[in-house]
Amino acid sequence: MRNNLQVRLIARPVGMPRAEDFRIEEASVPEVSEGELLVQVRYISLDPAMRGWMDDRPSYLPPVGLGQVMRATAIGEVLQSRSTLFKAGDCVMGHLGVQTVAVVRAQAVRRVDTTLAPIDVHIGLLSTAGLTAYFGLLDTGQPLAGETVVVSGAAGAVGSVVGQIARIKGCRAVGVAGGSDKCTFLTDTLGYDRAVDYKADDFKLQLAGACANGIDVFFDNVGNPVLDLALRYINLRARIVLCGAISQYNSTGKVDGPQNYIALIVKRAMMKGLIVFDYESRYAEATAQLAAWWRSGSVVYRADVTQGIERFHEALLRLFAGKTKGKAVLQV
Ligand SMILES: NC(=O)c1ccc[n+]([C@@H]2O[C@H](COP(=O)([O-])OP(=O)(O)OC[C@H]3O[C@@H](n4cnc5c(N)ncnc54)[C@H](OP(=O)(O)O)[C@@H]3O)[C@@H](O)[C@H]2O)c1
Repeated sequence: MRNNLQVRLIARPVGMPRAEDFRIEEASVPEVSEGELLVQVRYISLDPAMRGWMDDRPSYLPPVGLGQVMRATAIGEVLQSRSTLFKAGDCVMGHLGVQTVAVVRAQAVRRVDTTLAPIDVHIGLLSTAGLTAYFGLLDTGQPLAGETVVVSGAAGAVGSVVGQIARIKGCRAVGVAGGSDKCTFLTDTLGYDRAVDYKADDFKLQLAGACANGIDVFFDNVGNPVLDLALRYINLRARIVLCGAISQYNSTGKVDGPQNYIALIVKRAMMKGLIVFDYESRYAEATAQLAAWWRSGSVVYRADVTQGIERFHEALLRLFAGKTKGKAVLQV
């Protein structure tokens, strides 16, 4: 029987996760029971949400227990099936965890249609990140042609897709990211109309210039201080999509929220959060559309791939250090 290399959470991080908060261990693979699958994991999605799952506090999913395999969305190939839902050789995606082999309930994973796109595209564009961009922008943001859509964390996994969908819908897309290299990526690779560097000294001026006609949709992946500044420029009936707040995830102090919230009243604006899992019944629709855009070249997909499960912690830190462009992925 093959062995399983696993990354287990052994301590709750305080601030940025440390290597000592995890243990890499080799375990034997348990028997596959009725209704279960044995899956060879191929790609693991590295998501900012993982940081929240490490904390012992109520959220939309229970915390990862100490000593448990770290939760992660991953994609893999079925090696053995004891379910009528899948057969050996099928590709599946779900919470397979940070490990090389997973035994999962067949009902807890979904089929990956490799005729739509290869699995390395599925793990980023056709998984949580792309689906969040799709539903967050189209359902919550409700963009109209001609409007200005501003995206924070624009060079990241979600943000890189939001700007491209905004352009497809006829909007003007403005991306906010850290550093000139990422800003060039936004305009030259992703097709954003304007890029704003929040790390530059003249950031406030840059944002004001890029949003001369105001902001109709602000898609927020980051939180303060960019969120607070963006509220200054919102137009009448603007929509603020609260997708994430990565600037707060490793903070050990109080959550830093926006001061300028009164702008929501004055502008009759809406600020609304979303959790992508609520859209599960519509995943097929979004996956088909995103794949079609990708195949036609209307949406480009970029990934930052780290090889090897033992480099999980290093790869996670790259994400929080802003070193990744596009989707952060661990290849098994
Ligand atoms: N609501 C949902 O259902 C849902 C689903 C998926 C993701 N999300 C959220 O969406 C957001 C983006 O996720 P993603 O997977 O696309 O990640 P990502 O944008 O690829 O995440 C990494 C980027 O975040 C920025 N960042 C990291 N630490 C930061 C800090 N302290 N302050 C400001 N920026 C920081 C960096 O970009 P710069 O170099 O530009 O700073 C970094 O490259 C996250 O907040 C995530 O939690 C929500």
